[in-house]
Amino acid sequence: MTLAIIGGSGLAKIPKLEIIGTQALKTPFGIPSADYVFGKLHGKKIIFLSRHGNPHRIAPHKINYRANLWGLKELGVTRIIAVAAVGGITRNMAPAHLAIPDQIIDYSYGREHTFFAENDAAVQHIDFTYPYSQPLRAGLINAAASINLPVSPIATYGCTQGPRLETTAEIIRMERDGCDLVGMTGMPEAALARELELSYASLAVVANWAAGKSAGEITMAEIERHLEKGMANAMTLLTEFVTAKG
Ligand code: HPA
Repeated sequence: MTLAIIGGSGLAKIPKLEIIGTQALKTPFGIPSADYVFGKLHGKKIIFLSRHGNPHRIAPHKINYRANLWGLKELGVTRIIAVAAVGGITRNMAPAHLAIPDQIIDYSYGREHTFFAENDAAVQHIDFTYPYSQPLRAGLINAAASINLPVSPIATYGCTQGPRLETTAEIIRMERDGCDLVGMTGMPEAALARELELSYASLAVVANWAAGKSAGEITMAEIERHLEKGMANAMTLLTEFVTAKG
């Protein structure tokens, strides 16, 4: 039941991870974003991967999601918590808030998004009715409740292409579609995990109000400030989760 944490913007490293070792991997789909880091978080073994590389250098549409997930599978990982910075669209999704999304709408394009592309004979159509692992989501939600950390247990994540942020009209459309959050890396990561039969849940950290949801433009300084606070809460939650669930 090896657990992996994939870190996104604002989480290229886990501050309190006691590092045991690292491993570089080559996969049939290319090279993952970074070396896999083996470590202990509060005494519990985990594997960590920095989605954007370490240091942060790979744009969302350039990430080799297939290599990242394939490598985790090869290392024996069965459960993944994917931490992701997002913009907040709906009322409760204020900067620094945490959410455990339960649904996805994919607006990204042109990404390598399946392991079943190589051989027509082997195409499989995975079920994706519920894109995230319910037991993993419940574990995160329970861990948050046990330390009185407010999280939204239901949220729809809209995945845009990036790397630019959205226009106001795009966010209005996404809200109409039912999106609560907007990010750039949730897909194809979640679907690839499902193709490999890995349990996968996302821990979304709101970095900013999405375009047009607050006065003025979105600045990187604002994003970084909120992410710092949100990621600190995300780490508290992850630590509680690993110690509660093993
Ligand atoms: N849009 C898309 N992705 C993001 C945002 C945003 O506003 N903030 C952090 N990741």
